[in-house]
Amino acid sequence: MSENHVMQTYGRWPIEAARGEGVWLYDTGGKKYLDFTAGIAVTALGHAHPVVAKAISEQATQLLHCSNLFHIPSQIELANKLVELSCCDKVFFSNSGAEAIEGAIKMARRYASQTYGREKYEIITFEHSFHGRTMGALSATCQPKYQEGFGPLVPGFLYAKSGDLDSVQSLISHKTCAVLLEPVQGEGGVRPFTAEFLQAVRELCDRHRALLIFDEVQTGVGRTGTFFAYEQFGVEPDIVALAKGLANGVPIGAVLAKQKIADVMVPGTHASTFGGNPLATTAALATVGTLLEQHIMQHVQEMGHYLMEKLQTLVTKYPMAKEVRGLGLLVGLELDRPAADIVKACLEKGLLLTVAGGSALRFTPALIVEKEHIDQAVSILESVLAESTASV
Ligand SMILES: Cc1ncc(COP(=O)(O)O)c(C=O)c1O
Repeated sequence: MSENHVMQTYGRWPIEAARGEGVWLYDTGGKKYLDFTAGIAVTALGHAHPVVAKAISEQATQLLHCSNLFHIPSQIELANKLVELSCCDKVFFSNSGAEAIEGAIKMARRYASQTYGREKYEIITFEHSFHGRTMGALSATCQPKYQEGFGPLVPGFLYAKSGDLDSVQSLISHKTCAVLLEPVQGEGGVRPFTAEFLQAVRELCDRHRALLIFDEVQTGVGRTGTFFAYEQFGVEPDIVALAKGLANGVPIGAVLAKQKIADVMVPGTHASTFGGNPLATTAALATVGTLLEQHIMQHVQEMGHYLMEKLQTLVTKYPMAKEVRGLGLLVGLELDRPAADIVKACLEKGLLLTVAGGSALRFTPALIVEKEHIDQAVSILESVLAESTASV
């Protein structure tokens, strides 16, 4: 089909996606792919999950949208569930990850401005970070390639070296209102921070009366083996952003915040026409409910270890495979070269992967993936690595 009228902002694969089922994606010609992208860490329960599909179709016959002029029971129920699962007290719903980050930035700045004065507006983020494409989120994203040509950026963002406490120390001051980070940097190359580092950043924030914001857009909703990745680092953030996996593919984002921060977000301070609408929140309730009822996060821990162990064997066998990194089912395999060619070769053999940080292969299968799928994926990848090694 011709794409003349679609703006060419994406480097797309030569596949027309038709339908999906669990970890499988089918193109319009009926070819089957083992999908280890899950829509870039979105379809947590797999494609066309029956519980989510039923919830969406039933809701569509009742009410898709009504606006936030109304009380929305499914929105209230979802907020209650997220608060119960988290260290936060209140939730604002958006439609995407970038919008959740925008909300988090606004909340942090307003809280600091109202509590300590207008000079406290700076936000520290990290190299290799990715927070989204809107102007605030883009300004927070410390990767020049994404910012090129879009200046002037939103002022007040300072960039620290990843995992380097001295760097954070040199930037943090009485002007800092927040430190924003992904506990495992996803798009930037699947790079987990250490618990010691995150705990030290928490202490620095407390000392400087700055908030700690975790961007769990990619790591949240069970992706790393716990509902929030922060649970595994012994650190509690003040604000958490969620999106991707929350409604198994229906667009939604959420900003969770502690009570003191939520208190400054009074009527009129922030809004979204679609945010938290009946369709999205019903899909999210079905997704989160299934995740918890079926103990899928324990399964993620098991499958994550299994996948990482299998990839580790490739590191021992193929010199181009350098390092396995990750947490749960957010896994990266660092290569000694750009990963795009390997992704392309895997795709031709029926395995879908993504590139992270240029030289890492990123594995984000649906959380319901089984060992047999992992075996199949690693075997396809191994054949590609073997062929690439032989052709050098
Ligand atoms: C950590 C993180 N934050 C924010 C975003 C932006 O989310 P969205 O594409 O839904 O705006 C992404 C997307 O990849 C992400 O991985």
